[in-house]
Amino acid sequence: MTYVVVENCIKCKYMDCVEVCPVDCFYEGENMLVIHPDECIDCGVCEPECPAEAIKPDTEPNLASWLKLNAEYAKAWPNITAKKEAPADAKEFDGVPNKLAECFSPQPGQGD
Ligand code: SF4
Ligand code: F3S
Repeated sequence: MTYVVVENCIKCKYMDCVEVCPVDCFYEGENMLVIHPDECIDCGVCEPECPAEAIKPDTEPNLASWLKLNAEYAKAWPNITAKKEAPADAKEFDGVPNKLAECFSPQPGQGD
């Protein structure tokens, strides 16, 4: 199994998660992060750290499409291990529906 980053990360991108990951398996897009499923060791410490509750174990139902997105973009985006400043409007996007369709950016972030 692995943990996956899901929709509510988009445009929240708080990055508290990267500080606690013991194997540095987060990758940075322009407006969200993903977890590399082959590198995650399922320790679970990132899940409670996310203020947007956007990290889930893949044992939860209906996460197949998010697992696929995490796997795909972990290969394309740069590694991130240190927290940066969250977007100024992060709070406004917490819980907003349809962020994948309306806000997702496939562009890479800057990484570390
Ligand atoms: Fe990293 Fe552990 Fe979270 Fe996997 S579950 S991404 S290893 S902190
Ligand atoms: Fe995203 Fe939560 Fe990390 S909002 S960047 S998964 S702390």
